[in-house]
Amino acid sequence: MRKKVTVVGAGFVGSTCAHWIAAKQLADVVLIDIFEGVAKGKALDLSQAGPVEGYDVSITGSSDYAEAANSDVVILTSGAPRKPGMTREDLVAVNADITAQNIEAIKATSPNAFLIVVSNPMDTMTTLAHKLSGFPKERVMGQGGVLDAARYRTFIAHEIGCSVEDVHAMLMGGHGDEMVPLPRFTTVSGIPVTEFISPERLQEIVDRTKQGGAEIVKLLEKGSAYYAPSAATVAMVESILLDKKRVMPVAALCEGEYGVSGIYFGVPVVLGAGGIEKILELPLTAEEQDNVNRSSALVKASCAALPVKYGVI
Ligand code: 2OP
Repeated sequence: MRKKVTVVGAGFVGSTCAHWIAAKQLADVVLIDIFEGVAKGKALDLSQAGPVEGYDVSITGSSDYAEAANSDVVILTSGAPRKPGMTREDLVAVNADITAQNIEAIKATSPNAFLIVVSNPMDTMTTLAHKLSGFPKERVMGQGGVLDAARYRTFIAHEIGCSVEDVHAMLMGGHGDEMVPLPRFTTVSGIPVTEFISPERLQEIVDRTKQGGAEIVKLLEKGSAYYAPSAATVAMVESILLDKKRVMPVAALCEGEYGVSGIYFGVPVVLGAGGIEKILELPLTAEEQDNVNRSSALVKASCAALPVKYGVI
């Protein structure tokens, strides 16, 4: 029997996740949205691409979580997107309520699922999702780091004029303006990136990466990025369902790692059939650790801004 992935939110990020999952034939997909026609219409449209693209997975849409029962993975994308000039943090209150409602339904229908949170502010929503679901920490995670690292890798490849495939990079921290790209852990086919790019230029690339989401929000004027966010999410789904044990930056519950406790925060992890199987602890320089501290302080402040009805985090 095929695996089953439910994507909550049939907007651009959700439906593009469904698209990548189908194209890779990873699992049957259920799209859930409060607008049932949108979920059903996009599912039908994606199904009808199957004969052309040669995929056989089932893709259905509904506003009823019964359709999503016993999913192996649930991806949470629903929530208001940013408008130009807004930070991800501006979305805390409205997206917390949406996340809370969905978690209730997921708990009731897919109690054994892996939960991947994409809704922003992602680290905060993942922290809330973990708390409200009661799921083990290994099964709850947030997507942000794979996307941020992909942006960073793209800019580096364009700068050098090499394949994006050959740029490998680690990045830590919250999925916000204080994310922490790590040039010391960035290589081009094993060659340190500093052999190709000057420190000044690299800093400009790091700064552009931090603003990578906002750059697209500004260009689109309405809505935010979705191709790269959904590709990044599906890379995580693939690593779990195929037990690839990829080493990726993922928002994981930190309990002392890197001096961070009690919040979901982007760290290097091993992602496999057990979910977050391991958090890797890299030796950081004092400057890198300062950057991590600045980023974790922002995520903590964002969690502290969650509506009081969800309790203190
Ligand atoms: C981004 O960085 C939407 O947070 C997402 O594009």
